[in-house]
Amino acid sequence: MTKLHRRTFVLGGLATAGAVALSGRSAQAAAPFPFKLGVASGEPDSSSVVLWTRLAPTPTNADGQGGMANADVAVDWQVSTSDSFSSLVASGTVTAHYADAHSVHVVAGGLQPDAEYYYRFRAQGFLSPVGRTRTAPATGTFGTDLKMAFASCANYENGYYTAYRRMAEDRPDLILHLGDYIYEGGAGSGVRQHLGAEIVSLADYRRRYAQYKSDPDLQAAHAIAPWLVVPDDHEVENNYANMVRADNSPALTAAQFAARRTAAYKAYYENMPLRPAQAPSGNSIPLYRRVRWGQLATFHMLDTRQFRDDQANGDGWKVSTAADDVNRTLTGAAQEAWLLDGLGQHLGTWDILGQQVFFARQFDASGAANMDAWDGYRASRSRIQTGWVNRAVRNPLVLTGDVHASWANNLKQDYANSNSAVIGTELVCTSITSGGDGSAATAIPNAATNPHLKFYSNRRGYVLTTVGRTQVRADFRSVAKVTEHDAAVSTAKSFVILDGQPGLQAL
Ligand SMILES: [Fe+2]
Repeated sequence: MTKLHRRTFVLGGLATAGAVALSGRSAQAAAPFPFKLGVASGEPDSSSVVLWTRLAPTPTNADGQGGMANADVAVDWQVSTSDSFSSLVASGTVTAHYADAHSVHVVAGGLQPDAEYYYRFRAQGFLSPVGRTRTAPATGTFGTDLKMAFASCANYENGYYTAYRRMAEDRPDLILHLGDYIYEGGAGSGVRQHLGAEIVSLADYRRRYAQYKSDPDLQAAHAIAPWLVVPDDHEVENNYANMVRADNSPALTAAQFAARRTAAYKAYYENMPLRPAQAPSGNSIPLYRRVRWGQLATFHMLDTRQFRDDQANGDGWKVSTAADDVNRTLTGAAQEAWLLDGLGQHLGTWDILGQQVFFARQFDASGAANMDAWDGYRASRSRIQTGWVNRAVRNPLVLTGDVHASWANNLKQDYANSNSAVIGTELVCTSITSGGDGSAATAIPNAATNPHLKFYSNRRGYVLTTVGRTQVRADFRSVAKVTEHDAAVSTAKSFVILDGQPGLQAL
């Protein structure tokens, strides 16, 4: 089977595979098709990957249970080297529980390193759509060049998920999602509407994920490659920091906010292809983690939300005196130590930080800092940068979401000194939809005080990277419109980053 044919199968199969009831189980096939939220995979290592699905024949029921009865359901799973499943390399049966909204997380093991696989599920007499996934190269080996896409910020109301569809068509090996996978607000006035009011309860969050995951373009992006995910604020609520509600609306009590976090993180775990090690405990979820891609790259997935100091005000701005406070932290002390320890191990050629908020931008030279970015935590940022310089980290690369525009930036030892050395690189993906179509603007905001910022674009899209032994190439992929279906994608700008030479080279 040709590659093109395979792609057609995986992408096209999402729309049609649902109708196939397995022969010999027709007695059970009176139940409606349960795989309407698609399939996903994630967290690959060199011998295993997480396979995910959630049974939901009527996905957006208000109780969040997707039309499933209060009963356990057996779910079979299969992994094959071919999309025809002519021979299986792994298979088994797991139980989908009502208490987990009938989501399943299968750790499929015993796989070969640096290899492509196909997977599917079977439940209640139906086969799921087929997903494609792959494993990482073995420790000490580089494997083939890694085609990795990253994205963030997909407000359902602001547009159609054309960028997710185009990302799937680019056929990446790995996708990073850097947060704002869902938005918490109630029905508004975009090109399509959220169901229900602002989400607060577990049922609300489950229903919101189900609405988002019903989108065929998002399903295509999940089905094409394994994902590594970290949430930002909107998976809980806008701009929240630590345990304190950060906006100016009536404050929740600590107990109310803890309950909201508990609901939000339970639903996040249920709906993402995370390993069991990332299962939440009460109102917190252990998310910062390392994922190794052989000798080629190490992904340090960060959590900049749960452990930051709760200093943000309504619009995220405060004066810079607070930003320089050496006691303030965006990561918390434990995560900072864990990150620096990992960077010091020199595990692979590229040390890639997958994280949420803007790293390099000085928001205002006149003395204000943005407290929803590293700009508001300059001492915290400096400790991490100095830490990687002192540890002779060869190729630090920061990936960022959150700001709904594309940027490419050189990281500097001292951002206030234009002669300061370049000590790393930051790539910022725009939103999938958030903010709507955007504009044709390309002038870099605050350029005079940010000479290290090299590229800006205000269209929607994602970043497609090719991570190789000698360079990382980054293509900023852009769609002209998200308020209309099926816009074409184009590359707005490309850069390379050379091994051993921090900073951007424009193509
Ligand atoms: Fe966002």
